[in-house]
Formats: sequence, C-alpha cells, structure tokens
Amino acid sequence: MRHLATLCALLGLLISCGGDGTLFSATSRAMTVSLSGSPSAKIWRGQCSACHGAAGEGNRAFGAPALTQLSTDYLARQLRHFVGGVRGAHSGDDAGKRMALSVANLNEADIPGLAALITTELPPAQPAITITGNAARGEDYYVNICSACHSGNGQGNDALGTPALAGLNDWYLKSSYQSYLDGIRGTHPDDFYGAQMVRLAPALAKGDDINDVIAFIASLPPRRAP
Ligand code: HEC
Ligand code: HEC
Repeated sequence: MRHLATLCALLGLLISCGGDGTLFSATSRAMTVSLSGSPSAKIWRGQCSACHGAAGEGNRAFGAPALTQLSTDYLARQLRHFVGGVRGAHSGDDAGKRMALSVANLNEADIPGLAALITTELPPAQPAITITGNAARGEDYYVNICSACHSGNGQGNDALGTPALAGLNDWYLKSSYQSYLDGIRGTHPDDFYGAQMVRLAPALAKGDDINDVIAFIASLPPRRAP
C-alpha cells in the first residue's frame, strides 16, 4: 500500500490518486475538513491534500510539512518559487522536486486563492513532537540567533520575509535546516530570502545545537490557537 501511495506521489498526483481516500489510508491519519466548493478548494483536494493531509497537517511519509501556520505572503512566495524553478530545482533536493513537480501546472491566478484557503479554511495543525533536545539551551540560541528575523514567539515576520516556525513539524524544521546547510535550498540566484538562511546555517552545525533549537521552537504555540 505504501509503495502504491509513494508511486502516486512521485507521479506528481496530477492524476487524482487517492481522490477517494482509499490509496492513502495506510499513510495518512484521517483528518476531515469541510471546505467551500471554490476553485481553490478543488485544487486543494485534487492536487495538494494527498501529500499535505486533508487539513494541511503535513505527512512525514512524503516529507510534506504542515502549512496552516504560514502566512499568505510566505505561502504565495514559496508556491511561485516552486513553479518558477527557484526552489526544488537543485539536483540533490528530492523533497523539493516532489513538490515542484506537483505544482508545475499551477497558474499565477491560482496562487492567491490557494494561499488564502490554507490560512483561513484549514484548522491550525498541532504537529506531534518527534525530536528530543535541550529546549532551555535551544532557547538561548533561538533568542540570540533566530528571533531577530523569525520574531520572539516564532510567528515569523512578513516584513522580513520570514516564515512562522512555531507550528511547523519538527522533522521538517530539521530537514529544511539541513537543506540550507547543504546548499540544496536557498542557493538559486533569485532566492534572496533563502540565501539568508544559507549564510546562517553553519552557526548551528555543531553537535546537537539544531536539535536543541528545534526542541525550543516546538514548545512555542502556533499562530492560530485551535
Ligand atoms: C507529491 C507530494 C506533494 C504534493 C502533491 C504537494 N506538495 Fe507541497 N510539499 C511537498 C514536499 C515534500 C514539500 C517540502 C519540500 C522541502 O522539503 O523543501 C512541500 C512544500 C510545500 C510548501 C512550502 C512550505 C514551507 O514551509 O516552505 C508549500 C507552500 C506547499 N508545499 C504547498 C502545496 C500546495 C498548495 C499543493 C497543491 C497545489 C502542494 N503543496 C502539493 C509535497 C507535496
Ligand atoms: C537574517 C534573518 C534570519 C535569521 C537570523 C534566521 N532566519 Fe530562518 N529564515 C529567514 C528567511 C528570510 C527565511 C525564508 C527563506 C525562504 O524563503 O526560503 C527563513 C526560513 C527558515 C526556515 C524554513 C521554514 C520553512 O517553512 O520552510 C527554517 C527552518 C528557519 N528559517 C530556521 C531558522 C532558525 C532555527 C534560525 C536560528 C538559528 C533562523 N532561521 C534564523 C531568515 C532568517
């Protein structure tokens, strides 16, 4: 079952594998959500929910993060970057490529509506904790290194182009950090914002530093309390 689901994901899900929920029952925890019948809701159900979960809660099996805590500005920019080859085009970026392939057929006109649907119609995700670390030590790092850009409460700051980190899946925080450190995300010449993280990533490359920071971030409540 898992192989079949993964195959569907790799095919880009442009065909609606799992549209009836059956193919994905083995890998996604059933979350139900009732959406309007808008064009954005149709795209979400047919083209996004199989990987990101019906309620946008994320699915580790596909490396697809929770989306519900991100701002419309940040969501729209990431979607444009995936469609335009600024993100997910690096040869070593397998997760980014899966995502880029899945949205290759989106039009510019689809993007604002999808970003709005994710932030207003999907309930705030509450990701499970999967990474252990020393949160008190991580708080020191967070306050000194991350908070100036991502804000003290981890809610992000649109004026600086930074996403909320509170409410993201901890495994995704780690894989994103690693992608910046490895230079497979944020190194496209047009990725002004990603380049900031690429420059910063080596600061936490020692020992368990990143796990400690993530343990602290995971303790921060997401943007929209449930
Ligand atoms: C084949 C599975 C798959 C499908 C289908 C898919 N995604 Fe993704 N998506 C991913 C993966 C994997 C990532 C993480 C990429 C990475 O690690 O850099 C991602 C990342 C994203 C991000 C960036 C999140 C962040 O925090 O930066 C957004 C936004 C997003 N997806 C929205 C969508 C939308 C909207 C759709 C439908 C139009 C969609 N995705 C369809 C797998 C998928
Ligand atoms: C100089 C400002 C700056 C600092 C300091 C900074 N970040 Fe970032 N961070 C950004 C920007 C801008 C982005 C958005 C990049 C993009 O669009 O791809 C980002 C993105 C991220 C992402 C990707 C989130 C997602 O949804 O994909 C993670 C994870 C992250 N930062 C973690 C951290 C951590 C942990 C720290 C502290 C150790 C930190 N950042 C410090 C500017 C900063």
